[in-house]
Amino acid sequence: MPDEEKAPHGQRVIRTMTGNDLESACRILVDQGLCAAEGLPQRISTTMGMANADCLVAEEGDAIVGVTVSVFDGFTSFVSYVAVAPGAERQGTGRQMMDELVRRTKSRGGRNIVVASWLSAVGFYESMEFRMPGSVFLVRDI
Ligand SMILES: CC(C)(COP(=O)(O)OP(=O)(O)OC[C@H]1O[C@@H](n2cnc3c(N)ncnc32)[C@H](O)[C@@H]1OP(=O)(O)O)[C@@H](O)C(=O)NCCC(=O)NCCS
Repeated sequence: MPDEEKAPHGQRVIRTMTGNDLESACRILVDQGLCAAEGLPQRISTTMGMANADCLVAEEGDAIVGVTVSVFDGFTSFVSYVAVAPGAERQGTGRQMMDELVRRTKSRGGRNIVVASWLSAVGFYESMEFRMPGSVFLVRDI
């Protein structure tokens, strides 16, 4: 069994997202209010097709209970989304997905991981040694 399919926490497995996971993964992102539903499967499919993307799911039994979407640029993994299914939070799924992303980023030679966090999720990232550097994030909508 490849490393990514080993389940250190009971029955939960963190693995690379496949096309079969798209519907469940999109539902979690929409239900948690992170993404608009329209066109989402196509957007995630585009990311999944990128050589340096890490699109992960957390699977428990037959259910997808978590999703992360990130892209590595040669230096840093930039996390676009992290979400756990409503009702399945605070059971270690988010941490387990981020641990796997750290492992993959290290194996690519990456030095750090950057996330744009909701204020309500800052504590989640801080519990995993994320820090707030003295820089700001500027966005131009196009
Ligand atoms: C934020 C989210 C991804 C965390 O995943 P999770 O599976 O619930 O988190 P975990 O159970 O792995 O928690 C890991 C640690 O973070 C802490 N934590 C989790 N959510 C937290 C929050 N919102 N605020 C503060 N701490 C939090 C836990 O207490 C735990 O700490 P511990 O290990 O010291 O006990 C999940 O709650 C979620 O999907 N929330 C809605 C969407 C969202 O906010 N996404 C992030 C947007 S940037």
